Amino acid sequence: MNVCVIGTGYVGLVSGVCFSEIGNNVTCVDLDENKINNLRKGIVPIYEPGLEDLVIKNTKEGKLSFTTRLTEGMDNADVIIIAVGTPEKETGEADLQYVEAVAKSIGENLNGYKVIVTKSTVPVGTNRRVKELVAKYSGSGNFDVASNPEFLREGSAIHDTMNMERAIIGVESEKAGQVLSELHQPFNTTIMVTTIETAEMIKYASNAFLATKISFINEIATICEKFNADVTDVAKGMGLDGRIGSKFLNAGIGYGGSCFPKDTKALIQISGEVEHDFQLLKSVIEVNNKQQRVLLEKAKERFGNLSGKNIALLGLAFKPNTDDMRESASIVIADELVKQGAKVKGFDPIAKETARRVLPQQVEISEDMEKTLEGADIIMILTDWDEVKNLDLSTLAGKQKKPVIFDGRNCFSLDYAGQFGLEYHSIGRPSLV
Ligand SMILES: NC(=O)c1ccc[n+]([C@@H]2O[C@H](COP(=O)([O-])OP(=O)(O)OC[C@H]3O[C@@H](n4cnc5c(N)ncnc54)[C@H](O)[C@@H]3O)[C@@H](O)[C@H]2O)c1
Repeated sequence: MNVCVIGTGYVGLVSGVCFSEIGNNVTCVDLDENKINNLRKGIVPIYEPGLEDLVIKNTKEGKLSFTTRLTEGMDNADVIIIAVGTPEKETGEADLQYVEAVAKSIGENLNGYKVIVTKSTVPVGTNRRVKELVAKYSGSGNFDVASNPEFLREGSAIHDTMNMERAIIGVESEKAGQVLSELHQPFNTTIMVTTIETAEMIKYASNAFLATKISFINEIATICEKFNADVTDVAKGMGLDGRIGSKFLNAGIGYGGSCFPKDTKALIQISGEVEHDFQLLKSVIEVNNKQQRVLLEKAKERFGNLSGKNIALLGLAFKPNTDDMRESASIVIADELVKQGAKVKGFDPIAKETARRVLPQQVEISEDMEKTLEGADIIMILTDWDEVKNLDLSTLAGKQKKPVIFDGRNCFSLDYAGQFGLEYHSIGRPSLV
C-alpha cells in the first residue's frame, strides 16, 4: 500500500518507519525542512532505540522517503495519516490548529479516493471536523476519514509498534475499515473496528486510566510512609490479583511526558463540554502535581534550608530511554532548587541537549555521572535509567562526605541500600538513616 504520514515527530516518524518495515511504500511529510534534510541523510532528530537503523534500512530499500511537499506524499497515497502535534492550550483543551491546517491542505490537494486517518490524539468529534474541512476545500466526497489512535510508549516505540497489542480503527465506512484492517494485518495484532467517536474516546480513556493507576499507587505510597509499610511489596501483592495487574503500579515522583499531562486535562475539558465534572481525573492531576514535588518536601523536612547545598540530580528525561523532557519532574525540581539557592548539577545519558534548553542555566549538565556526583551533599534520583540503577552505592559510602540520597524512583532495594550505612530516602518505603 502507499502510505503518506504527515508529521515526523515521535509518532509520525515511528509509524512511518514501521509501516515501511512491514512492506508498504511510505512518504513522511513535515514542514520542518531541517528535520527532513537530516532524515534524508539518515540523521534522526529524536532518541528512540532502533529507530535510526530502520530509517537507514528502509530508505536504502526504497520503501521510505521524506519530503516537505505534501503533494509529493499524498498524490499516490491510498492512506494518509495525520500525526501532527495536539499540544495543550492554556485552558487545558487540545490545540487543534495543526490538525485543522493539515485537513485543509489535504482538501486543497485531493486527487482521488483516500482514507484520511487521524493518529494524533484528538478530542471526540475532531474527525468529523476533519471530514468537514476536507470536503469544504476539495469540493469532493471521494474520501473517508478514520480514527486510529496511537498507543506507543516513548523509549520503546519501535518495539511497541512492531508488537502492538491492539489496533483501534474508528470508521464510518466498510471500505475504510477494510483498507485499515489490511494495513495492520502484518502486525499480527488484535484489530478492533469501531465507530469514530468510540475510537477517539478509547485513547483518552486509556491514558486517563493509566495516569489514575500511577496517582493511586502514589497516594498509597504516602500512606505507607506513615505506617512504615513498603509500597513496593504492597504493589507486588496487589498485582498478583489478575483483576488489578502489576503494571503501572510503581510509586515514584509522578508521571510526565507529552501525553498523560495534556490528555488528562483535555479529557476534563471534553467532559466539561457535555456538562460532566470529571472529579476523579481532577484528583489524579492534583496528586501528580504534588508528587512531582515530593523530593523537595522530603529534602526541606530533612535539611530545612537548601541554600548553598550541592545537589546532584540523576536523570532529567521524563522516563528512561528517551530524550523527551516535556512535563518532566526534573524541570519543577531544578527550577525550585535554583530558586532556593542550591548549587545544582544534572546528569542524563541522553537528554543533555534538551536539558540545556529547558533547565535554568545555573544547572551544570553532564553525561558523566561521576562528574555530577562529585562533591554532592544531596543526590536526587529522578529517572530510573539503567546507568542510575547500576550505580555502585559502595563508591558513595567510601566518600569522605557521604551524600544523602533521595530516590524518586525506588531504584534500589532497601536490603542493598542498607548495606552501606548511607542515609537513603525513597518513595513509600521506610527511610534508612
Ligand atoms: N509522543 C508520544 O509518546 C505519543 C503517543 C501517543 C500519541 N501521541 C499523540 O500523537 C500526536 C503527535 O505527537 P508527537 O509527540 O509525535 O508530536 P511532535 O511534536 O514530536 O511532532 C509533530 C510533528 O508535526 C509536524 N507538523 C506540524 N504541522 C505540520 C504540517 N502542517 N505539515 C507537516 N508537518 C507538520 C511538526 O513539525 C513536528 O515534526 C499528538 O497528538 C500526541 O498527543 C503521542
